[in-house]
Amino acid sequence: MTARWPAIVLGGTGYVAGEFVRLILGHPNLELAAVVSTSEAGSPLAATFPHLEAALAEHTFVDLSTAIGNLDQAPHWCVVCAAPHGAAAGMLNDLANAAADRNVKLTMVDASADFRFASLDEFESIYAQPHGAPALATQFSSGLPEHVVGTPTPHIGHPGCFATAMLLGIVPLQQHDLIDGPVFVAAVTGSTGSGRVAKPTTHHPERNSNFVAYNPLRHRHSPEVEGLAQLATGKRLELAFVPHSGPFARGIHATLQTKLNAPIAQELLLQQLGEFYAEAPFVQVTQTPPRIKDVVGTNYARMSAAVEGSTLTVFVVIDNLVKGAAGGSIQWANRLLGLAETTGLTSPALGWT
Ligand SMILES: NC(=O)c1ccc[n+]([C@@H]2O[C@H](COP(=O)([O-])OP(=O)(O)OC[C@H]3O[C@@H](n4cnc5c(N)ncnc54)[C@H](OP(=O)(O)O)[C@@H]3O)[C@@H](O)[C@H]2O)c1
Repeated sequence: MTARWPAIVLGGTGYVAGEFVRLILGHPNLELAAVVSTSEAGSPLAATFPHLEAALAEHTFVDLSTAIGNLDQAPHWCVVCAAPHGAAAGMLNDLANAAADRNVKLTMVDASADFRFASLDEFESIYAQPHGAPALATQFSSGLPEHVVGTPTPHIGHPGCFATAMLLGIVPLQQHDLIDGPVFVAAVTGSTGSGRVAKPTTHHPERNSNFVAYNPLRHRHSPEVEGLAQLATGKRLELAFVPHSGPFARGIHATLQTKLNAPIAQELLLQQLGEFYAEAPFVQVTQTPPRIKDVVGTNYARMSAAVEGSTLTVFVVIDNLVKGAAGGSIQWANRLLGLAETTGLTSPALGWT
């Protein structure tokens, strides 16, 4: 018989939560048990996610206490979290305490920033708020499944969308000792990267047909990437990151540039990247610069590279909501649950979005 775990999604009506719901509905070993909403408990999921209606049947959002009250119904639950940073840790803590009281096992993956840091002080200084669950933090670690061996902790904090794109490109360069000095990154994200609630800068007339940098060199994901790169490679990373808003709904295109430590031919670099990710089912190294259209809606990342003289450029594309959030988190959940990492995640891209 196929093993099945009931799944709880936190962050109810958000874009990442919607992607968790979509992926869980197509996952052979996860069963959508509860989608927790702080604003829409009792209302049908299909009203918020009409594109999922055909697969959703009668599902309604629930509040956290209802999800907690149902924990006795199964011995082992998968919990995936798409709540905002700051709120995520407290909700996961409430679930963890209730599960411990009932002798129920949880496997939790958080897509927020709450469990991405090795130190609580670092989280608190970057996000300017106290951590929501200091006691739970030791049970979490962070990193990409492509860069972490096995299951270091029972639960995982997923690195996030920009960080996923940057780390996929940077870590192999560090491992091969190719970087001389800072890595300069210009990365462009689609509008879903800012979440469901519209702001003046994400309003359609402002965002459509537009292209703009924001928080240049000061984005709070920079220290996350520097910390996670050091964790993966043991090497210090100096990052100069300029994020941009692009006029599309989903996808991230990251261009990484650095000086080469030692000469390398472009063909050899591409070969080394291919070898580095040979066992990584979701990373595809291409001979020509990758396109976001080829990964949007999927858990795949595509990357390529160019070398000219002493300059090295790496391009990485991902879907911010899938590989950068819900899909990457389910990839981790698969590993933590002892499933093949690819389970439920191998659908190819639409191509023409
Ligand atoms: N968007 C991306 O590309 C992306 C990529 C990587 C990681 N992430 C992370 O994933 C999480 C969700 O991102 P998102 O883009 O889906 O955001 P979003 O569209 O703004 O959704 C977040 C949802 O969380 C719930 N929520 C809001 N305030 C809350 C609170 N105080 N306590 C508990 N729940 C609250 C709301 O749903 P209810 O009203 O139904 O509760 C809201 O719809 C964030 O932590 C974000 O940093 C996002």
